[in-house]
Amino acid sequence: MKELSLHILDIVQNSIRAKASKIELRITEDIDNNQFEIQITDNGIGMDKVFLDKVTSPFVTSRKTRNVGLGISLLKQNAEQSGGFFTINSESNKGTIIKAVFEHQNIDRPILGDVAGTMTLLIGANPQIHFIYLHKKELEQFYFDTEEVKNEIDTIPIQHPDILKALKELINENLNDIKATIN
Ligand SMILES: Nc1ncnc2c1ncn2[C@@H]1O[C@H](COP(=O)(O)OP(=O)(O)OP(=O)(O)O)[C@@H](O)[C@H]1O
Ligand SMILES: [Mg+2]
Repeated sequence: MKELSLHILDIVQNSIRAKASKIELRITEDIDNNQFEIQITDNGIGMDKVFLDKVTSPFVTSRKTRNVGLGISLLKQNAEQSGGFFTINSESNKGTIIKAVFEHQNIDRPILGDVAGTMTLLIGANPQIHFIYLHKKELEQFYFDTEEVKNEIDTIPIQHPDILKALKELINENLNDIKATIN
């Protein structure tokens, strides 16, 4: 089964194709309630009610090159197979919120994997997009915001390889500090 970070990559790529200028990833680990929650919010073109009602089916896509879209249906399936659930809310011209909740301790829950690599890959390919990543574990949390980074680095472009490398290290160190469950 693929890592959750790869699901995140798929879902964020949907947001990018929907012309989002701001995308937020929120991961919440609630050990007491045995929940591992991933929420992705964007301000893209959204979906109307009719499309939204059928979007979790694998045969729904707006792609012209093939007629299956798997990103959303696979994430939903994975969440449900690990004792969790999936929700999607969207509004035309406003944006979309996707939530996948897994049982934290379920043996079928995929590992989070290389979320720092996924985030820096997305930032490098889409430097104009405002990305936020908030990871909460119990009482600790780590907040990462590309607008803050851009202010810090001033005239150096955020997609510069040295910056991306430093950001990846920064994210990994912070995840380590809050004892985030990556593996
Ligand atoms: N964040 C979003 N905003 C607007 N529309 C979306 C968003 N996410 C998905 N969609 C719509 O839902 C469809 C299905 O998405 P899904 O990720 O399941 O498949 P896909 O992106 O079409 O193909 P694949 O993910 O397999 O490459 C998309 O084609 C798009 O029309
Ligand atoms: Mg997709």
